[in-house]
Amino acid sequence: MPKPSSRFDRIPPYLFAEISRVKREAKARGVDIIDLGIGDPDIPTPQPILDALKTAVDNKETHRYDESARGWPEFISAAADWYQRTFGVELDQASEMCQVIGSKEGLAHLAWSYIDAGDYSIIPNPGYPVYKNNTLMAGGEVYETPLLAENAFLPDLTAIPTDVAKKAKLFYVCYPHNPTAAVATPEFYQDAVAFCREHDILLVNDMAYATVTYDGFKSPTVLQVEGGKDVAIEFHSLSKMYNMTGWRLGFAAGNPDAISTLQRLKDNIDSKQFGAVALAGAHALNHVDNSATMAIYEKRRDLLCDGLRELGWDIPKPKATLFVWAPVPRDDMDSATFCRELIEKAGVVIIPGSGSGDAGEGYVRMSLTLPGDVDGQRFVEAVKRIKESGLIPARV
Ligand SMILES: Cc1ncc(COP(=O)(O)O)c(C=O)c1O
Repeated sequence: MPKPSSRFDRIPPYLFAEISRVKREAKARGVDIIDLGIGDPDIPTPQPILDALKTAVDNKETHRYDESARGWPEFISAAADWYQRTFGVELDQASEMCQVIGSKEGLAHLAWSYIDAGDYSIIPNPGYPVYKNNTLMAGGEVYETPLLAENAFLPDLTAIPTDVAKKAKLFYVCYPHNPTAAVATPEFYQDAVAFCREHDILLVNDMAYATVTYDGFKSPTVLQVEGGKDVAIEFHSLSKMYNMTGWRLGFAAGNPDAISTLQRLKDNIDSKQFGAVALAGAHALNHVDNSATMAIYEKRRDLLCDGLRELGWDIPKPKATLFVWAPVPRDDMDSATFCRELIEKAGVVIIPGSGSGDAGEGYVRMSLTLPGDVDGQRFVEAVKRIKESGLIPARV
């Protein structure tokens, strides 16, 4: 076989390989693993969305290529209405929106649409690896802004060197944030819009967790900020909102040039999502409310955070996302060692913060998704096992 493209040499190895190995070995020993590793909703897609898909599959119009300009019209229209209802922002369906095959696809192809050799993407560290890996594969460079607790896990815009800003084309942010569970403020978005306007950078906001929120919190969006549409594109996904990760459906909204540039690349790569999936997605956005699912996550969050706090592991309760971001509770272990020990001694899988970037060292990520959980009881069991592992130092 010919040698694969050298662009693969530019991307780092899979960082969770070690944890996967320890997990596999524990499973082989018969350990009953509680896997708080990946954040894939365990609750099924709501029945009305399944019913809408079944109806849409019988519509023979959906069996053909979607030849629309920006995505199945009912889906784009439902997404525009949903955006207006949720964030109070009007979007022009013809120029300010396009459908994507999951937000990962859109976020990745945006890098391929803009980045040439020598161009920079500014990316969060820790962060979702798609921004970095696609920038690097496209031949570009990344500047990683550390997200630190003292800055509420927001990038410090004043610390970005001017020569990097000059060479940057994209600035990826993600709020609510995976993995830190941090949320953005309207003031941060105002500053980010001003920064990107000054340096002619496209601000890319990954909002995969926009509506995965708790305690009544409502996430702001960059397009609510004055001038947001001049410099920003935002990605939304039905994956986490409606437990539809396998369906591969989302949309981009924002600056018309950015949308048409992304669409131009997509027109040369994909032929859009299956129309029936898009129609079911339209039904979801128009009619389905995700509060029952959010109540399940919120209960799990409370059982986990309150239970661990009682053990002396004080963890802030996230306002959003499927994740709890916790400082490693011991001085004598890095995050990877702590996670390995937790699998060995408690059969509980969590993810080292360093797996999402070196600035994540010192933290671990626990997911609120867990197949087989009934009424939060597996989370109670996880806390019990963590207690029995003896890995949490006694309170002083
Ligand atoms: C931060 C973030 N962005 C984007 C995605 C991709 O979501 P999807 O492609 O399913 O829309 C994920 C999935 O885990 C994520 O965590």
